[in-house]
Amino acid sequence: MNVEQLKKIAGEKAAERVKDGMIIGLGTGSTVKYTILKIGEMVKDGLEIIGIPTSRATEQLASRIGIPLGDINEYQEIDLTIDGADQVDSEMNLIKGGGGALLREKMVAYASRYEVIVVDERKICNVLGSFPLPVEIARFGYQRTMSALEKFGCRASLRYRNEEIYVTDNGNYIVDCKFEEIRDPKTLEREIDEIPGVVEIGLFVNLVDEIIIGRKDGVEIRKKNSTRR
Ligand code: 5RP
Repeated sequence: MNVEQLKKIAGEKAAERVKDGMIIGLGTGSTVKYTILKIGEMVKDGLEIIGIPTSRATEQLASRIGIPLGDINEYQEIDLTIDGADQVDSEMNLIKGGGGALLREKMVAYASRYEVIVVDERKICNVLGSFPLPVEIARFGYQRTMSALEKFGCRASLRYRNEEIYVTDNGNYIVDCKFEEIRDPKTLEREIDEIPGVVEIGLFVNLVDEIIIGRKDGVEIRKKNSTRR
């Protein structure tokens, strides 16, 4: 199986968690896209759910295939969210934000009773850090905020797309912070959060209930022993 097939088997497996009447957080990225497409088919077959998209890209995809949508102001309690990730460590902590949607993804995860993450096997690691940590920051004083981030021992690069500074759905910038290793994600998240100008950090600590991994020999499912809420 190639990587695309691994994404597909993980993404489609997650759609099995979706039940009639649920409010569903819809993540962002090329793996959860397969979940969203599957949910679209289920809706065509009569499933009734409301999707809460975590980005404009997901909103466009979901509405194009007929998934009824709401937002987090209307639906403050979300039954289940399915999303992708850039790295998953052995404690089920994540790096997210490779696709730039980390702020909405984290708000939706925080509002969710159950969070499922879909990845292919390349994303699994023991310790986070080989993927640069995305941090969403305010445009005002962004160079000053980047200097503050580098004091944590990373190399901070402002994200660009098509030779222009990348701007998130929320009108902010993203800085990709390359650390050697992130051994204590919880502390790092708390400390970075104290920098004025930081809007959100792509570390998801203790926010995940289940990981669905697409592997060459099939799908692996890992569940958290205790639920977080
Ligand atoms: C977007 C994300 C994505 O979930 C993450 O980048 C994984 O995407 P993909 O499945 O395309 O590798 O965090 O902000």
